[in-house]
Amino acid sequence: MSSKKILVGVSGGIAAYKALDVVSSLRKQQHQVQVVMTEAATRFVHPRTFAAVSGQPVLHDMWPEHAKNLEDGYPHLYPATETDLFVLVPATANTIAKIAGGFGSDLLSTSCLSLPGKCRKIFCPSMNVEMWLNRTVQANAEKLEQDGWRVVGPESGHLACGMTGEGRLSSTERILQVISDELGATLPLQGKRLLILSGPTREHLDPVRFIGNPSSGLMGQALAEEAARLGAAVEFVTGPVPDDHLPRNASINIHPIKGALEMLETGRRLLPSIQAAIYVAAVSDYRPEKTLNQKMPKHEEAFDLKLVPNPDISATLNREKNPGTYTIGFALQTENGESLATEKLKAKGLDGIVLNYPDSMGSASGTFSFLSAETTCFESWGAINKKNAARKILSKIPKPE
Ligand SMILES: Cc1cc2nc3c(=O)[nH]c(=O)nc-3n(C[C@H](O)[C@H](O)[C@H](O)COP(=O)(O)O)c2cc1C
Repeated sequence: MSSKKILVGVSGGIAAYKALDVVSSLRKQQHQVQVVMTEAATRFVHPRTFAAVSGQPVLHDMWPEHAKNLEDGYPHLYPATETDLFVLVPATANTIAKIAGGFGSDLLSTSCLSLPGKCRKIFCPSMNVEMWLNRTVQANAEKLEQDGWRVVGPESGHLACGMTGEGRLSSTERILQVISDELGATLPLQGKRLLILSGPTREHLDPVRFIGNPSSGLMGQALAEEAARLGAAVEFVTGPVPDDHLPRNASINIHPIKGALEMLETGRRLLPSIQAAIYVAAVSDYRPEKTLNQKMPKHEEAFDLKLVPNPDISATLNREKNPGTYTIGFALQTENGESLATEKLKAKGLDGIVLNYPDSMGSASGTFSFLSAETTCFESWGAINKKNAARKILSKIPKPE
């Protein structure tokens, strides 16, 4: 395997000395290993020992004397931003909690906040059995897994505290095996450029009034973030949504639009460069025939508003796409869901369609099912959160050869 950049995080548990073995083995495998330690970890093993074994000065101080000037670098970011794989060994309950909570209160947890999207992340818990079984610790470990971290261990056996149970650090061999698996595997969407049309559209009557809908953009956000985590580059075309509903990842390009025509135009421009598209936007079927340039004055009389149909964006883009582009649409139905979604799939020439219901509008979860163009039977996913739905939807995109 070619040499990779590996950041080894050591937190302050009794098994910290076992991380020396991991570091030493990784270095023997010709990887570039950088160690970052918590303050507690330095009380178990002196940083000098890790420096000797890794061949690099150890990072443990957010405010080192030598980095008084910014030209000396940003120890809280470097080298996290260039890392291929991060392994936290051992992972204490405290550091797991910090990472799960998004804290950057020391150099190690701050480094975790700046790991690039493509970086593989592994944590190896080691602690007393009661600590490991504590509900908060379990919930934090689960949160890390949901965020794409792979957990190794802990194993059952005799613990340093004298108790017996789950809590032992996994063996060096096991940790190295998982590291090697993670470095060898290609991400499922690596090399793909994905177009996502997301959020509501606004069809303006005048500069301050529009026809819109309550789409939150949360499903599109979950799809874009998950796709980036799986290695895709994402072109994200979005109607107006709150800032915290926008996806965040260096591999996601955001293209803000307002109305359906603008969404179509932007999608069309991006179409030649993409290998897959997901149409999750709640596009207005109609727009006012005329948009006034100035605010419409209030009158006492009723007035007629003429609406004209918007183009069908997914059907149009699907007619114009490159032949191999895999496309998934969404159908939000209030009744006869399965038959209407099936009709939509066929009429628009989609490869798959996600059926959902109004319960998912503006919510973090919903009830979803999926129909592929190759089958006639819906796969029911039940009531799940949008992150899980995003994972299931993206798993339908064919992997690169
Ligand atoms: C002797 C001793 C052994 C410890 N062993 C562990 C351990 O194995 N796992 C753990 O999660 N915490 C252990 N702790 C507690 C952590 O050191 C403590 O929670 C600390 O704040 C962790 O800081 P860190 O996560 O920043 O490294 C131990 C504490 C002491 C004093």
